[in-house]
Amino acid sequence: MNQDTLYKAAKAAQEKAYAPYSQFKVGAAIVDEKGHIHTGCNIENAAYPIGCCAEQSAVSQMIINGGKNIEHILIVGRNGEPCPPCGACRQVIFEHGNKDTQVHLETADNQLSCQSISSLLPDAFDHSQLDK
Ligand code: THU
Repeated sequence: MNQDTLYKAAKAAQEKAYAPYSQFKVGAAIVDEKGHIHTGCNIENAAYPIGCCAEQSAVSQMIINGGKNIEHILIVGRNGEPCPPCGACRQVIFEHGNKDTQVHLETADNQLSCQSISSLLPDAFDHSQLDK
């Protein structure tokens, strides 16, 4: 996984964001289990709650393109600021990843940081609860 390639993919997706209400454009880029990259951007709506986050549109792209598992996801918001995934997106990343899925964010000093989805969403609800 080349972090720089993933960053560029997320930035390109961010440019496509449809965010006329918040003016807050987000881009996300996923590396799946085969090393393929899938991207997404946020897509807002005049009916605010039905807008879609960048991470979730990237997951849609992964699924439609045959990817099964998120190995890495990189998220960009404002330049040089972290854009941590919202709570709902953490749950979606967990569902379509694994406990070691790596979440990459920009840092305040224009670097990239990386942490596991389990650290961002400890004690996640998952399918095992349903199987009991
Ligand atoms: N947003 C994302 O796309 N991902 C997140 O994890 C946080 C928020 C979007 C939703 C909305 O379009 C805008 O950012 C402002 O909240």
